[in-house]
Amino acid sequence: LTTQSDYDKKAAAEKSVDFIKNGMTIGLGSGSTVYWMMKKLSQKVEQGLQIKGIPSSKRTENWAKELQIPLTDFHENLTLDLAIDGADEIDPDFNLLKGGGGSLVREKIVNNASKEVVIIGDKPKLVSQLGKIPLPVEIVPFGWEVTANHILSQLDCKPVLRRKDGDIFISDNGNYIVDCSFEHIPNPKALHDQLKSLVGVVETGLYVNLADTVVISEKEHVNVLVA
Ligand code: A5P
Repeated sequence: LTTQSDYDKKAAAEKSVDFIKNGMTIGLGSGSTVYWMMKKLSQKVEQGLQIKGIPSSKRTENWAKELQIPLTDFHENLTLDLAIDGADEIDPDFNLLKGGGGSLVREKIVNNASKEVVIIGDKPKLVSQLGKIPLPVEIVPFGWEVTANHILSQLDCKPVLRRKDGDIFISDNGNYIVDCSFEHIPNPKALHDQLKSLVGVVETGLYVNLADTVVISEKEHVNVLVA
């Protein structure tokens, strides 16, 4: 923990653990804020809380194993009781921009399968409109140049292929991610639908109508916002 942002993420994350009740199946999101939630959850598990988690990324799965949080899978449960996840941007209607960490597809599957979704973060994640951060879009590696060119010509945004340490970034699903700078996304649903209609696009980082509750912390003062 070094910055105020770290402390705020931790405070919001710990508060979100109050939503977890005995016997629940929990969607475990991804990212640094979720890590703090899992750390607190693991203490509760040690004290006797009985829950099972489904991780939304390989990184989260590894953390769950280290923290001894029991895991299950979709084969055993088609519906989750609650998912707790982070986000990169949250608008006033609780539309989200996600995928900064590259886990947008699994996160969306986990959140979508959950009866209730709680999003955690620090104050700067609340924005008046989505789009300041480039929108992550997961695409199939085969013919990615063609898909990226369609995004460019049809949506007027220059997609940038994500790289990590010089190599092309590969998602947990074996796909590529392009980051698309729109600056302003006045209609997240329309943009999502347009992108999804392009051949080669797997999923976008726009989450419309998924979040029920947003837990935000500023200077470690936590606010629970309900849609
Ligand atoms: C991962 O793909 C993202 O959607 C994360 O939820 C997002 O980047 C939040 O990360 P932090 O909690 O690290 O800010």
